[in-house]
Amino acid sequence: MKASTIIALGVVLSTSLWANPHTMPSKTYDSIVKTGNEVATNLIQTLGKNLKQHLKSEDPLGAATFCSTQALALTDSVTAQYGKNISVKRISLKARNPVNAAQGSEKVIMEALQNLHSNGVILPKYIVERVDATTAKYYKPLRITKEVCLKCHGNIAENTKLSALLKQTYPNDKATGYTMGDLRGAIVVTISQ
Ligand code: HEC
Repeated sequence: MKASTIIALGVVLSTSLWANPHTMPSKTYDSIVKTGNEVATNLIQTLGKNLKQHLKSEDPLGAATFCSTQALALTDSVTAQYGKNISVKRISLKARNPVNAAQGSEKVIMEALQNLHSNGVILPKYIVERVDATTAKYYKPLRITKEVCLKCHGNIAENTKLSALLKQTYPNDKATGYTMGDLRGAIVVTISQ
């Protein structure tokens, strides 16, 4: 056998081995979790800090304007801190911004998490999806744990100005009607090696 054939075979074999998520070495898994935790915490803190500031100085209407104009840019700024192999975003089955709608395997995973949650299971702090030989996705389920979230994701009909603004910006807004404890979505950190 020619050397190049052996190398090619080796690549195919190791690729297929890695593609099986259950053969992932625990060291690789641990490093994915470590990075995922770090990046997700960074995003939560970045968005949380900014939201708090705007809610302090403005009413929910002003803060909602901040969310709609800045949330994605702030999310991208967190991604930019980590180089090209890492990216972070928020997803939901009931998204306000269609850009954040869970897609493909993300949707399957969110539906599974929602199903567990609806059946009274306390969700794990994170889960890991092996996407392919070199890519993994770390998911951090996000629940409504603070009353403040309900200002813009609860029963917002009573705040007519806010619901008009949200309707105008997001004609297909699905992210209302939540109550405390509900599963709102997840933070997804995509990590390639
Ligand atoms: C002041 C209004 C406001 C508050 C308070 C608020 N949000 Fe949002 N939220 C928004 C807006 C507007 C968007 C869409 C932003 C965008 O375009 O990415 C959004 C989007 C999201 C998304 C992304 C998925 C989607 O629906 O597009 C998640 C997850 C989320 N919010 C969770 C929360 C949680 C958890 C809290 C409480 C800590 C919270 N929000 C508080 C206004 C708010």
